[in-house]
Amino acid sequence: MTLSSVHIIGVGGYLPERIMTNADLEALVDTTDEWIAERTGIRQRHIIAEDQMTSDLAVEAAKMALLDAGITIDDIDALVVATTTPDMIFPSTATVVQSKLGGKEFPAWDVQAVCSGFVYGLAHLEGMMRAGMYKRVLMIGAESMSRIVDWTDRGTCILFGDGAGAVVLEAGGPDAENGMVGSILHADGSYRELLKAHHTHPKLSPEMHHQKIDFRIDSAGTAAVEMKGNEVFRIAVTKLGSVVKEILAKHELTDSDIDWLVPHQANIRIIQATAKKLKMDMDRVALTVATHGNTSSASVPLALNDLYRSGKLEKGQLILLEAFAGGFAWGANLLRWSK
Ligand code: UT7
Repeated sequence: MTLSSVHIIGVGGYLPERIMTNADLEALVDTTDEWIAERTGIRQRHIIAEDQMTSDLAVEAAKMALLDAGITIDDIDALVVATTTPDMIFPSTATVVQSKLGGKEFPAWDVQAVCSGFVYGLAHLEGMMRAGMYKRVLMIGAESMSRIVDWTDRGTCILFGDGAGAVVLEAGGPDAENGMVGSILHADGSYRELLKAHHTHPKLSPEMHHQKIDFRIDSAGTAAVEMKGNEVFRIAVTKLGSVVKEILAKHELTDSDIDWLVPHQANIRIIQATAKKLKMDMDRVALTVATHGNTSSASVPLALNDLYRSGKLEKGQLILLEAFAGGFAWGANLLRWSK
């Protein structure tokens, strides 16, 4: 059997209108713009509107990716949403997005690997599409993390933001040289207590969520991200450093072969550590952490969208995507740009 090449043929992103700056956070918790900027690189983040759901963010990103690919939803034969903040426990957010986009009967499902969801989804789709299962797929990362953050916990509420990023993947075509090179995924559930959220958040209405932000209602008893930041940081640096080396070695490539690093945007210091491990200058790294914060599974496709829209990407360039997440679940994808 001849395996197909798999290409990104469209990219999109969407950020909700409301911006929350570090100065806004100073009014909520005992923190400073200086502390947040210095320790995380974050200056602001976007917050979902009361009348929006995660699926709405996903739909906007998907529309942009479809437009960019020059196709419509009728050309799509599968849709995947990576999300930690689904509209409901079920049905999947992917089916909601399919319906809102007017898609008909093609399979749609969610991937839950927290901040690594997009990298995980891309890896799975790469395998399925190489084997001929689907021709054109929408892969979306979409999150409303602000709805599961404890707005009284300065250790976590300063980190997260909302948004969505999407790509259209296509199998086959004449450009067999470019496209997905490969993916590596890892997980180790023994670390699960270090970064988690109990799942009571669907009980929170959007109104309650905004009251929590605006009036500092104590989040005790409702879903909230809990993190031992320090330990997560240390392990993230180690695991990301090793997975990027692992994927390069697997494909007989070296640091100097990489043109762009598109990392998960959790903390500028984690990104710098990975870039250093790869001996890459920071001007070859897609950076959105300052303006988006950590948008979990949306962060990698949003950073890719940013890089793509900057006009800096050239056909044939080697791009390394990576992410680290609760679980822990982490991984990397390598691809040669096809557009
Ligand atoms: O996306 C999934 C993966 N997630 C991550 O990768 C996040 C990884 N972790 C981190 O990014 C960092 O650990 C944080 C940004 C969360 C925290 O930075 P840190 O440099 O590890 O700080 P720390 O937790 O060790 O806290 C240092 C001090 C503490 O005060 P004391 O105990 O030294 O007096 C904290 O209470 O900073 C204090 N602190 C704050 N001060 C001002 C913690 N949060 C804040 C805050 N503002 N927002």
